[in-house]
Amino acid sequence: MRQSYDLMFASSNKNKYNEAKEILTTFNIALGFYKCELEEIQSDSLKKIASHKSQNAFSKCKCPVIIEDDGLFIDALNGFPGPYSSYVFKTIGNKGILRLVSSDLRAKFTSIISFSDEKNSSKIFEGTILGKISQKALGNGWGYDPIFIPEGETKTFAQLENKNVLSHRHKSLEKFAKWFGKQVSIDR
Ligand code: IMP
Repeated sequence: MRQSYDLMFASSNKNKYNEAKEILTTFNIALGFYKCELEEIQSDSLKKIASHKSQNAFSKCKCPVIIEDDGLFIDALNGFPGPYSSYVFKTIGNKGILRLVSSDLRAKFTSIISFSDEKNSSKIFEGTILGKISQKALGNGWGYDPIFIPEGETKTFAQLENKNVLSHRHKSLEKFAKWFGKQVSIDR
């Protein structure tokens, strides 16, 4: 680990890292990228998946590390795709999601950040943003960004310039940053 980083973000997804880095910079935390494939257990709990992933990440990079696991939960589909969001995106994508929803478009996006180091096997931070699925894909963002409209907005995440100050990721990372800041001052 390069000394210029406070901790690493382990993922194969550079988009997530770029957003997490920008968010944590506002809390004076320097985040490095540890690009890797992580073991993903089958579970209907994002927290269990995240906890296993960060322990796996720590066993690989051997330095303080966070991972993130996200889920898009659609009300009319009883929370589907939820923990299966990644697989569903790869298989049916945004077009498939738009075909599945019609009148009730309410949805939420949840981000789970899990931190692991030599003292903490895994510490979980959760952030959720309410919103709805758009009628059609709008904007050029990654993942579900073109079809998710956060509550109080008329544009999708892909169209919004301020996604990083209101996203599920910002909410979970803000909680993490407050906790991490305290740990660093205890250790000094
Ligand atoms: P993962 O399993 O944590 O990688 O995320 C589940 C799915 O949600 C993946 O297909 C991601 O691309 C997607 N995803 C996670 N966060 C976001 C986001 O902020 N915007 C759009 N899609 C996202």
